[in-house]
Amino acid sequence: MNVPLLAMDEGERADLDAFRRDVLAGLAEAPRAIPAKYLYDARGSALFDAICEQPEYYPTRTEAAILRQRAQEIARLGGRGCALVEYGSGSSVKTRLLLEAMPDLHAYVPIDISRRHLEATARRLREDYPGLRVDPVTGDYMALDALPDTISDARRIGFFPGSTIGNLMPEEAVLFLRRARRLLRPDGALVLGVDLKKDPQWLHDAYNDRAGVTAQFTLNLLRRMNRELEATFDLSAFAHDASYNEAAGRIEIYFRSLRDQMVTIAGSRFQFAQGERIHTEYSYKYDQTEIAELARQGGFSVAASWTDPSRLFAVAFLK
Ligand code: TRP
Repeated sequence: MNVPLLAMDEGERADLDAFRRDVLAGLAEAPRAIPAKYLYDARGSALFDAICEQPEYYPTRTEAAILRQRAQEIARLGGRGCALVEYGSGSSVKTRLLLEAMPDLHAYVPIDISRRHLEATARRLREDYPGLRVDPVTGDYMALDALPDTISDARRIGFFPGSTIGNLMPEEAVLFLRRARRLLRPDGALVLGVDLKKDPQWLHDAYNDRAGVTAQFTLNLLRRMNRELEATFDLSAFAHDASYNEAAGRIEIYFRSLRDQMVTIAGSRFQFAQGERIHTEYSYKYDQTEIAELARQGGFSVAASWTDPSRLFAVAFLK
């Protein structure tokens, strides 16, 4: 099915143009790459939620358990009347764990690029937490440099869960932290979720679940290109390919061509060699020393850091 062009508003049309531009540019690079943000269309977002339920994918449930256990402590460190600023809020599931523990919050400020997602989430939260001021901000949190006036002088506590910081290159992670430092102001703080280095087999399995949901998630990108960019990917001729690069300390996620083949995308033809990999995402893993160093380079210091009994995941409170 093609996207009904006439039914699209201006924003959607601009998004589609950007998608086409980024795909064509990324496939012209060597090595080839497609930005990971395009994994998250409606189906991709649903598949990602399903990944989080897989027995092998420990980060989501481990982080949630840490937050549940430490919510009171985080609330205490944040102080009364602070504003909670969430970077890339999605559906704000983990946020609720903090909101429960912070009844006197001045405001909750979710930041997300998807306005639709943001509005739906804000509506649900206002229903579930009457009296909570929800001030959503639509935008790219990497570029954002101001927050709504309504949060005025409340202390700003950032929240960046899900080890999304690991999806940034380490230099970008430092830049992100520096920007967050500025946005959250000198008296602010940041609650940061980070997936820890561990037995590579565990890491491998987390990105190669037996049910194949992660594979479906990666290959959904090809399906999306077929639908939105009139591409001709044969989904059975490509495979999900995720492995841990121990030297670089990161999971590397690709899709791989299973044979020599030609694919047309938005009118341009691309030749893929058998075994060729197209990069989608890195997921960097850090140890506690590296987290402290990252924080320092970003202008923060680690005020507290919590982990689970198996030391799979860390939640750090940066000041
Ligand atoms: N932030 C998640 C992570 O790095 C994203 C993620 C999980 C992901 N599984 C994936 C991205 C598979 C691409 C493919 O853990």
